[in-house]
Amino acid sequence: ARLDRYPRILVGSVGDLGDGDVETFEYPLEGTRNFLTRIEGEAWDGVGSDGDIVAYNGLCTHMGCSVEGLVDPGQEMAGPCSCHYTTFDLSKGGMVVSGAATTDLPQVRLDVEDGDIYATGIDGLVYGYRNNLR
Ligand code: FES
Repeated sequence: ARLDRYPRILVGSVGDLGDGDVETFEYPLEGTRNFLTRIEGEAWDGVGSDGDIVAYNGLCTHMGCSVEGLVDPGQEMAGPCSCHYTTFDLSKGGMVVSGAATTDLPQVRLDVEDGDIYATGIDGLVYGYRNNLR
């Protein structure tokens, strides 16, 4: 499938997402894996009443290893990546904290409506892609 623009799709529910839960979803294309989580404390561009719900692409920006299963809710970090040890700060837009990557983890833009969480876009370039949608 080819997309020209980011779609708006339902990815979860505020009521179902507990502290430290990690849920995966595919966006914007089938097979592009991302994760949704509720961290401790407010996050940049976090949604929900406490601004603590965030979503990121699950591929490390260094060489594309998966970091979606490496979320530490207590420390608000994803990683260290099992390939070359990059850790990303989920409270600060996926900023690289340490390790081999030099690019932040792409953050999925979220919107909450009636308790439902929607993905509406991605800030940053997903590993393996040459350009972004609008
Ligand atoms: Fe993650 Fe290299 S692929 S640090």
